[in-house]
Amino acid sequence: MTLQLRVYVPDHPLIKHWLGVARDRDTPSVLFKSAMTELGRWLTYEVSRHWLPTGETTVTTPLAEAPATLIDPMVPIALVPILRAGLALLDGAQTLLPLASTYHLGLVRNEETLDNSCYLNKLPPQLAPDTRVLILDPMLATGGSIMTAMAEVVSRGVDPANVRIECVVAAPPALQQLSAAYPSLTVYTAMIDEGLNDHGYIVPGLGDAGDRAFGT
Ligand code: PRP
Ligand code: URA
Repeated sequence: MTLQLRVYVPDHPLIKHWLGVARDRDTPSVLFKSAMTELGRWLTYEVSRHWLPTGETTVTTPLAEAPATLIDPMVPIALVPILRAGLALLDGAQTLLPLASTYHLGLVRNEETLDNSCYLNKLPPQLAPDTRVLILDPMLATGGSIMTAMAEVVSRGVDPANVRIECVVAAPPALQQLSAAYPSLTVYTAMIDEGLNDHGYIVPGLGDAGDRAFGT
């Protein structure tokens, strides 16, 4: 698979651990939700490393002046959880990015056609081009949903180079579509899986992330 976009699979024991817990079909819903929260936290930590805007300044300690690197408060940060399953990553992301605005996007896949439709869109009409946007969705399968989400974000003026997609399991069809449309994009995932089954589910995947997170 040759891709233009960057896909990071962080080599972190906590990410591997919680992915294993989430994959296990015997993991109950309450623990699955915890695993998603932890994955949201640690993947967001990895995303933030080269993405958060900082500025250099000087602060005065009780003893002397010291150089300081602080997060630039003038650059907006936006979290876009794709409902429902993306909500499971939101708590962990918000813990690290408490000042970010959260814009919910409700998308659902038709289980027969695999086409997605939008039932909630809380994105504002316009976003500043330098807005740091973090899209949260644990599953990138056919890629239909994430392509819809990207189109909604980019049509509001955001530079795709400032967007990060955070997912738990990514399948090749989704990464190929994203790469063709948004070569400057960066994706963070706990794992790239082999592919999809005949019903559009990621294999080995973790099943239906929304149903497992919400016990439905
Ligand atoms: C799941 C998942 C993604 C989408 C991925 O959502 O959370 O949004 O499927 O599939 P795709 O790449 O083929 O579009 P789903 O439609 O099951 O809704 P849910 O989160 O409410 O369960
Ligand atoms: N959505 C899910 O929740 N799981 C998959 O494997 C594919 C799409």
